[in-house]
Amino acid sequence: MGSLAQQNPSVWVGTTVASSYPALAGRVEVDVAVVGGGITGLTTALLLKRAGATVAVVEADRVASGTTGYTTAKLTSLHGLVYAELIDKHGEDKARQYAQANQAAVAQVATLVDQLAIDCQFERQPAITYTTEAPRRADIAAEVEAATTLGLPASYTEETALPFPVEAAIRFEDQAQFHPRRYSLALAAAIPGDGSHVFEMSRARDVDESGERPLVRTDGGEVVAADVVVATLLPFVDLGGFFAKCHPMHSYAMAVRIDGDVPGGMYLGVDSPTRSVRPVQLDGEVGLILGGQSHKVGQGGDTEQYYDELEAWSRASFPVRSFDYRWSAHDYIPVDSLPYVGRSPRSERVHVATGFKKWGMSNGTVAGMILADLLVGRPNPWAEVFDATRIDPKGSVKEFVSENLNVGKRFVKDHLSRLGSPPPEELAPGQGGLVDIDGQDVAAYRRPDGSLVAVSAVCTHLGCTVAWNPAETSWDCPCHGSRFDCEGAVIFGPAVADLAPVPIQPEEQ
Ligand SMILES: Cc1cc2nc3c(=O)[nH]c(=O)nc-3n(C[C@H](O)[C@H](O)[C@H](O)COP(=O)(O)OP(=O)(O)OC[C@H]3O[C@@H](n4cnc5c(N)ncnc54)[C@H](O)[C@@H]3O)c2cc1C
Ligand code: FES
Repeated sequence: MGSLAQQNPSVWVGTTVASSYPALAGRVEVDVAVVGGGITGLTTALLLKRAGATVAVVEADRVASGTTGYTTAKLTSLHGLVYAELIDKHGEDKARQYAQANQAAVAQVATLVDQLAIDCQFERQPAITYTTEAPRRADIAAEVEAATTLGLPASYTEETALPFPVEAAIRFEDQAQFHPRRYSLALAAAIPGDGSHVFEMSRARDVDESGERPLVRTDGGEVVAADVVVATLLPFVDLGGFFAKCHPMHSYAMAVRIDGDVPGGMYLGVDSPTRSVRPVQLDGEVGLILGGQSHKVGQGGDTEQYYDELEAWSRASFPVRSFDYRWSAHDYIPVDSLPYVGRSPRSERVHVATGFKKWGMSNGTVAGMILADLLVGRPNPWAEVFDATRIDPKGSVKEFVSENLNVGKRFVKDHLSRLGSPPPEELAPGQGGLVDIDGQDVAAYRRPDGSLVAVSAVCTHLGCTVAWNPAETSWDCPCHGSRFDCEGAVIFGPAVADLAPVPIQPEEQ
């Protein structure tokens, strides 16, 4: 069981076959071990291999089955409204580095698509951030000014191809969209050989730095390397408190067919709730991916409501003929609005890439470029702005305190949340809920065949109480975003261990 087997497969998962690389067995020695086979880990590994290093990708599930398989895959340096904020928080030089790095990522993906002849629906599109609220026109104007100052291809407009009016929009030319799994699977295919490897179904349990060289340990084997890159969305081991510097946000998407013409361009509406629109190929027809809604992982309550709201907005905004796919996923939002990439604060030899704030198609590619340069000793022009060892950046203390208060409250509150849950005998097939069995917080799920499975409700990362996610039939941790399937197996870290089974007596069924 893994994330590919989630309740709601994305259009990307639904239109590709799963890869089948071997599991790690025994001891393997390489120059760099890369933990995590999403776009970040795969880009890092491939660029390192091209620079002459031997690499081993160690993936817990199948490659590109994490957030990379559940994204909306707009490839752009236009990240909502970010540049005015970055200039304000970090100054013009760093904001320019961020802008240039993300522009370079778009070009890097285009180059790899070309060089490896990847059939991944790569297509140039403009990226547009819009508002439908008059008071927010000033925010758009400020973003156009900031982006233009930084040398980005930005313009102001009030006209879009969307079927509803907007008040104002910022448009970047020559950005791109693609099929992220087709792209990632092709990167993965280019890695094995000449001393390099891709291992799947191999969850790293530990990075052991007690020896001369660091060692990545899985249940089946170990990889010994000069350097380790942890590219697991959020580091699964504590490499400098990243779980406290980033918070997990969940959001939703649907792939639909509509009557009439599909609007060109990739859109993000920045009003609340946010809206995302981009074209997508569906069985030879052009459809749309419509996205939006957002909540902290494990804090969304009845998650079906987000799909319902997205569906209602989709129908109200477009002549929808069919809903073909629906899916959800999460990513981590960094406290100071910049991802963390590079050497970890805790180690010279272990490196991280996290906090992509839902822009990891470009930021994850940037991370791969920075890490490859760093590990082969080449200078990188953007390493400074992503520096993972930075501390107390201006403007981030308030967010840091508020996010960690939220986590603190979950520790206290969630132990009480089972009080409203039905007793196990009232759980319908397919339903889960927190129950009290002999004074213990238990996560109970009734399988479709009527049998009951019970696991501990205590997250194996740091001990928060997991919450039932009805739309995805998963147990989600409200603290740092670990997710477990309905039977308690980890599907997303930072947790590395499954929820502990709880034996149940026949009379408790
Ligand atoms: C709904 C949604 C829409 C988005 N849309 C966009 C968009 O349009 N454009 C954009 O730029 N970004 C977008 N993003 C963000 C982007 O998808 C992510 O930032 C990006 O996919 C992150 O890639 P990654 O490789 O870092 O992580 P992942 O793809 O999650 O890869 C991490 C991998 O690590 C593995 N792993 C975890 N723990 C372990 C372990 N202990 N041992 C071994 N392996 C492990 C996982 O199985 C996973 O395969 C979106 C995000 C969401 C949630
Ligand atoms: S993810 Fe950290 S406590 Fe659950």
